[in-house]
Amino acid sequence: MGWLPGYAALVTGGGAGIGRAVTERFVAEGASVTVFGRDKSQLDEVVAVAPDRIHAVTGDVRDSGRLYTAVAETVERFGKLDTLVANAGVWDYQRQLTRLGAAELDAAFDEIFAVNVKGCLLAAEAAWRELVKSRGSIVMTLSNASFHVNGGGPLYTASKHACLGLMRELAYELAPKVRVNGVACGGMNTDLRGPEALALGDRSISASFAKKRPDAPALVPLHDSSTDPRDFTGPYVLLAAREQSGPITGHAISVDGGIGVRGFAHAAGGDHL
Ligand SMILES: NC(=O)c1ccc[n+]([C@@H]2O[C@H](COP(=O)([O-])OP(=O)(O)OC[C@H]3O[C@@H](n4cnc5c(N)ncnc54)[C@H](O)[C@@H]3O)[C@@H](O)[C@H]2O)c1
Repeated sequence: MGWLPGYAALVTGGGAGIGRAVTERFVAEGASVTVFGRDKSQLDEVVAVAPDRIHAVTGDVRDSGRLYTAVAETVERFGKLDTLVANAGVWDYQRQLTRLGAAELDAAFDEIFAVNVKGCLLAAEAAWRELVKSRGSIVMTLSNASFHVNGGGPLYTASKHACLGLMRELAYELAPKVRVNGVACGGMNTDLRGPEALALGDRSISASFAKKRPDAPALVPLHDSSTDPRDFTGPYVLLAAREQSGPITGHAISVDGGIGVRGFAHAAGGDHL
């Protein structure tokens, strides 16, 4: 028996990266999952992993109607909705303010906030009625950029700080029946893309990981910790499982190799051990 026996979940951005890893982990823990995303071929690949327990709905998180369809099809196929993982997002490739023209800034703000922030809010709006019925929960994918600078540029950092505030506000508004928490991920080797508005829609963060030199200085205390998204899925399971985290709401678990305890001269104080 896993930690999510008989659970039904909906994962936005479930076709790749951490969303796909969470989906496969939830299935291994006993759940059924609807994956929602805009790339049908990615979703089909995920469904093939466990066709009896994974269902796909194509759509964009900026489209409330498709999110309503995803919730309705989850209930139709799996009987209920216990967990919404609000996860789909785009990155700004750390583009600094001084490298953005006014028109680019205007368009990229609208796109990044619409996907990263409004996308979570619309998904929560589509899902809350079913989550009240199941006494379920929402788990949002946050970021080290929800707490710290330079994980993105101003657009991404502001959007992920906004997601932290959204998580906390919804935790208040949906209590006591629905818990709302977040997982603040650090760098993961995924297919994370940039905004079309900056012509970064085809760029993948995986290229930055491929370029990283093995002798590059450590950035975080746990500098030898994994960047494989599968190794970030544990907190999602914990926060989804009412039996494991029933009293937890309004909380973000950081899974970032210890950014908050990074040293000034050296990232880790125990390199000599
Ligand atoms: N990769 C990292 O280093 C990292 C670090 C911290 C937080 N995150 C966050 O993790 C989340 C998932 O990103 P990932 O790294 O797994 O990237 P990914 O690109 O591998 O996966 C994201 C998925 O979401 C889908 N998607 C993107 N925009 C969408 C939209 N508008 N509507 C529907 N689906 C959409 C993509 O097609 C893809 O399937 C994002 O919120 C990101 O900000 C990533």
